[in-house]
Amino acid sequence: MLSPYLSKEFLRQNDAETVIKLNANENPYGPPKSVLDSIRHFDGELFRYQGIYANNLREQLASFHGLESQMIMLGAGSSVLLQLLGHYVQQKSATLHYCSPTFNILPDTLKKAGGKLNSLPLTTDYKFDLAALKEADETPGAIYLVNPNNPTGTFYERTEMELFCKSINSKTLIILDEAYIEYAGDGQSLVGLLKQMPNLIIVRTFSKIYGMAGLRMGYLMASAAIIRQLQQLVPWPNHDLSTLSLVAAGNALQSSSFVQTTRTTNARVMQSTIKALESLGYRCSPSVANFVYFNTKGKNLRAALEGYGVQIGQLDYENQTFARVTVGKEQEMERFVQCLQKLN
Ligand SMILES: Cc1ncc(COP(=O)(O)O)c(C=O)c1O
Repeated sequence: MLSPYLSKEFLRQNDAETVIKLNANENPYGPPKSVLDSIRHFDGELFRYQGIYANNLREQLASFHGLESQMIMLGAGSSVLLQLLGHYVQQKSATLHYCSPTFNILPDTLKKAGGKLNSLPLTTDYKFDLAALKEADETPGAIYLVNPNNPTGTFYERTEMELFCKSINSKTLIILDEAYIEYAGDGQSLVGLLKQMPNLIIVRTFSKIYGMAGLRMGYLMASAAIIRQLQQLVPWPNHDLSTLSLVAAGNALQSSSFVQTTRTTNARVMQSTIKALESLGYRCSPSVANFVYFNTKGKNLRAALEGYGVQIGQLDYENQTFARVTVGKEQEMERFVQCLQKLN
């Protein structure tokens, strides 16, 4: 439901024409035009179920990542796959070790299923505490890593993450959520480790840099043995996928120039947003993703900005209040900064 703050009347009074949505880490530039064209000009048979298109996308992803298609599982958004992983961890009676704050669907699913969780704090520079996670690991165990992390945007380079994963007991399941990895640059994913590490699961999405959040398409990659076990938890794998989303995702994989341009534009707009926030006295974490996490100086910025038609996220972390703003288009960020200036 629309907050009462965001009624048309309220927005008019506050000189805001439209709502600026900077709260869900969506990519305002997407999807790529070729993806939209592939939907507009689709001439296949929509009266048929999507099975063949799901198989095609698995093949396309396999060749994109240099894997076999049996190592890929699709989902209507990666959230669905993270929920599935929650049930998988529960089935193995494993304790899930992770750091907070992070993206919560996997821990929340496990909690609701009555599973065991061990939430550790981030380091003082807002990163996953790899040393503490290694120390806490026990058998049967699972570790959830989000790299770059949401909401902090903090990141470990591939080499460091690889060393960490290799140092972990090979019986421990490592679930690595790479929802924002493309923003961190080429060659940062741990996909190349999958063939050597049968305990590694990588989760990816088309919702972020590909700008396809509304199309709901995500996937996970793991050993064929893990994929088979996961499929046993789902009565009909792929049944909830849509043909058009599958076609669109396959097309998106060919949009490397779109990915590059989005990455560069996002980085430029993010740097100027961070600069503006810091000049207003806010402390920002060093993000490589498409959002910025900053200390609100004790203000309820989310409610206050909503009054100007600007939506951001806010959370209370260790009794200090933090906000997360998605990097939108340049003009949207200018408006965000103007509103913050009024509130300073
Ligand atoms: C770290 C992370 N993983 C996964 C997701 C889920 O994205 P989706 O379900 O759209 O694929 C999000 C969404 O914000 C996220 O931040």
